[in-house]
Amino acid sequence: MRKIIIAIDGYSACGKSTTAKEVAQILGYFYVDSGAMYRAVTVYFLEHHIAITNPKEVARALKEINVSFKINPQGNTEAYLNGLNVEKQIRKMQVSEWVSQVSAIKEVRAAMVEAQRKMGKKKGIVMDGRDIGSVVFPDAELKLFLTADLLVRAFRRQRELLERDELVDLDSVIGNLRQRDEFDSKRKVSPLVKSKDAIEIDTTHITIDEQVDEVVRLATGKMVRPGR
Ligand code: DC
Repeated sequence: MRKIIIAIDGYSACGKSTTAKEVAQILGYFYVDSGAMYRAVTVYFLEHHIAITNPKEVARALKEINVSFKINPQGNTEAYLNGLNVEKQIRKMQVSEWVSQVSAIKEVRAAMVEAQRKMGKKKGIVMDGRDIGSVVFPDAELKLFLTADLLVRAFRRQRELLERDELVDLDSVIGNLRQRDEFDSKRKVSPLVKSKDAIEIDTTHITIDEQVDEVVRLATGKMVRPGR
């Protein structure tokens, strides 16, 4: 079977990462959480007090940043910033509050898109984000666009935060998701859009297992039928 690129885009907390991770495991593909890359850059900017409105300072900082991924002993991909594991740090609410602004900076996007394309050179990759099917891999063999009701997404994100010992009230989670959806969809550079050739999956009423099965089914179809 040929190796393909699977691009999964959609709003925040639609289950993109969970789906992408499991699909990658089943297919033996490499999983890349592109949001984690923008989050890692945000951690660096916050830690080094980078003035995000100063393009020179941003460009200088980007030269110092290396984001990579390693697979842990449990088989999960974790994000590293300059060699340090930042998987826990990048999921904090403070990072969520800043990441949309950081990811809207064109120099940041250019650096991340270049790194993402390198990771996809050999195919056999599942990448999730906002612009994967539209900008990073416009020729991806399979493009998916996930959606879900805001409240369902907020509950899921709140539970995730709780699992990481961060208790955030539902209103704050809803506010953050709303704000990021709006910001990510309206920004000038690479806004979140559904590509014409992306298949939309509404995850509101389906389980993760059902989502995963559907994506694996679609992917297998593309892997055995080149050109379709
Ligand atoms: O998937 P996530 O919620 O962890 O992503 C965090 C932020 O990063 C999201 O609000 C928008 C930005 N992002 C982006 O602009 N482009 C991507 N390909 C992935 C994420």
